[in-house]
Amino acid sequence: MKKPYEPPSWASHHYPIPSHTFSLGHFPTPIHKWNLPTLPKKTEVWVKRDDLSGMQLSGNEVRKLEFLLADAVAQGADCIVTIGVLQRNLIVDRLVGAHIDLVSKEEYANVGSEVLTKLLKEKLLNEGRKPYVIPEGGSNSIGTCSQFKFNDIVVACSSGGTVAGLSVASRLSGLKAKVHAFSVCDHPDYFYEHIQGLHDGINAGVSSCDIVNIENARGLRYAMNTIDELTFVKQVAEITGVILDRVYSGKAAYGVMKDMRENPRKWEGRKVLFIHTGGLLGVYDKAEKIASFLAKWRKMEIHESIPRQQGIGKMV
Ligand SMILES: Cc1ncc(COP(=O)(O)O)c(C=O)c1O
Repeated sequence: MKKPYEPPSWASHHYPIPSHTFSLGHFPTPIHKWNLPTLPKKTEVWVKRDDLSGMQLSGNEVRKLEFLLADAVAQGADCIVTIGVLQRNLIVDRLVGAHIDLVSKEEYANVGSEVLTKLLKEKLLNEGRKPYVIPEGGSNSIGTCSQFKFNDIVVACSSGGTVAGLSVASRLSGLKAKVHAFSVCDHPDYFYEHIQGLHDGINAGVSSCDIVNIENARGLRYAMNTIDELTFVKQVAEITGVILDRVYSGKAAYGVMKDMRENPRKWEGRKVLFIHTGGLLGVYDKAEKIASFLAKWRKMEIHESIPRQQGIGKMV
């Protein structure tokens, strides 16, 4: 449902402020205390459950899409062009009828996401369509505005827009919580510059490095996991019941917990809000690799002499 967007008063002088938004996710998502083991003294960790913002569109991306899709409709678009990495969400994409153009890793690396989306846009324009391009991750000025809705202390993993929006919201709303971003793909230096560009794009008037602290949580490489990371995701699920995705929040939580272990003084007495950005479908992508970590199942032995009770259970 499309509705007019009223930015918070502290954000209203920024440009561009979207005029409309769609209601796509189930917001606000809950926040609860996260009883992670071996925290530094008097450190509290809370978790913002954006993974519960909806089944198919869970996570931070839906916050951006609420604004980006409203903008697409306002511009009269009849189709959306975007780009992303293959995971099991491909099944959901196909179920809802998305048209998918596959490129190889090498083509992606050589040509780059901007040119690839431009090529597809031009093709659609030639066919008489009205495409609207959402850049990779939805991280442009409009996508960044979506995070103005947050008002919390945050530890987030990111590849750009979410951190840019959270940090500027935290600063301008007076919350003044520092955003610790755990980068899962590129080097922190790249992100300091990139996030500064996003801040400048909305005239935020902030210096990114004053309000964001970016740590490297890439590990082996984007979307690849070490055994330690997978074991951590498994332990967190077992101990706390919170299922992290292995590509984003899993690596960020692994990174922040490692930092807490190595530098406990830095975190002692702090109250930390961790944003769970969803993305659970990524777990299925590595089902075989994870299998050896999972709780085991076994075939139940039922002696053939045990009589069947009529009317209970289904015949198969
Ligand atoms: C599940 C999930 N978490 C976190 C992120 C990172 O967010 P951003 O691209 O805004 O940095 C993404 C981006 O694709 C994501 O899909």
